[in-house]
Amino acid sequence: MNRLSPLPATATLVNQAVDWAITTRRSIRAFLPTPVAQEDIEAILDVARFSATGVNMQPWHVHVLTGEAKARLSRAIARIDSDPEAAAQHDDPYAYYPHKWKAPYLDRRRAVGWALYGLLDIDKGDKPRMHAQHARNYRFFDAPVGLLFTIDRSLGQGSLLDYGMFLQSVMVAARGRGLHTCPQASFLKYHSLISAQLGIAPEQMLVCGMSLGYADPACIENTLVTGREPVSAFATFHP
Ligand SMILES: Cc1cc2nc3c(=O)[nH]c(=O)nc-3n(C[C@H](O)[C@H](O)[C@H](O)COP(=O)(O)O)c2cc1C
Repeated sequence: MNRLSPLPATATLVNQAVDWAITTRRSIRAFLPTPVAQEDIEAILDVARFSATGVNMQPWHVHVLTGEAKARLSRAIARIDSDPEAAAQHDDPYAYYPHKWKAPYLDRRRAVGWALYGLLDIDKGDKPRMHAQHARNYRFFDAPVGLLFTIDRSLGQGSLLDYGMFLQSVMVAARGRGLHTCPQASFLKYHSLISAQLGIAPEQMLVCGMSLGYADPACIENTLVTGREPVSAFATFHP
């Protein structure tokens, strides 16, 4: 397949396949140990690189972690994350979330949080269990592949917009191969540790992490299906 390839199936099938891949992308938070074939990982990145970017800047760099490299990073983060004093020394490299939350974003944030904790039977205020669930982020939710995405710090906000398109392409291409993902801003807090461990150049900034693998259908957290506002709530048509 190349950039000028004709439709690989009927227009209806292509339409359905593309819509299916986008719609069935969900954040999965428990993965099977089944390995992901190296050729699938490479094919996903190979497709995602065709994402659009302003003046074709292609601002991404991806660190693909598997096996011992992934386990070593997870252990290093867990050591710090389990020590509140040490964890307090760490902070995000950029403001992914707003400093001040307002409606409707705060309500949506709360809704997804309580839906996840509700499924896991974690009560409001049960800080140890909430922390333990959050800590699963740093094990890439047991996915066999952990991805860490970085960008040159000198680039502007627009390049983060471009990066988001690349991340979505990675997640959609994963669906096309029967794989699932979870994008993860939670790694941001430990960006300096991650950079040190992976030898990431100082001019590169962590954008986010992502788990990649086969969803574990037996885990209750994977039954979470988040809602969306209808088109009429966010689109204004000007005839
Ligand atoms: C950039 C980005 C960072 C995210 N970070 C996390 C994270 O650290 N941990 C997590 O469990 N989910 C994370 N999510 C997943 C969101 O909670 C999820 O996308 C949202 O609730 C919508 O649900 P859905 O992905 O299942 O459609 C992140 C999503 C995005 C796009």
